[in-house]
Amino acid sequence: MSERVLVGPTTDLPEGSQTEIKVDGVSVVVVHHEGAYYALRNNCTHKDYPLLGGDVSLGRITCEKHGAKFELATGKPRTLPAVKPVRIYRTEVDGDQVYVHPL
Ligand code: FES
Repeated sequence: MSERVLVGPTTDLPEGSQTEIKVDGVSVVVVHHEGAYYALRNNCTHKDYPLLGGDVSLGRITCEKHGAKFELATGKPRTLPAVKPVRIYRTEVDGDQVYVHPL
């Protein structure tokens, strides 16, 4: 099994921030929202568009291309045009460092 991937220190990931990391060569967006860290595959399931930088509110991230919203906690699409979920990854805070676990 692969090792967890370091995202960075919590001080570099303040509330409301987003960043991108690679997990097993795949782009993953990490979001700090309302006190929790979420990690999702950085690809909208509608048309293969990155989610990084999308508006985050009410526990959802919005794809900027056509406006689909995905639940950060589950990856499930909550608005069209996306119908397939985004893969999610488990996050972990260990000391003052944030990690993402590979699938
Ligand atoms: S590419 Fe994301 S909603 Fe269309």
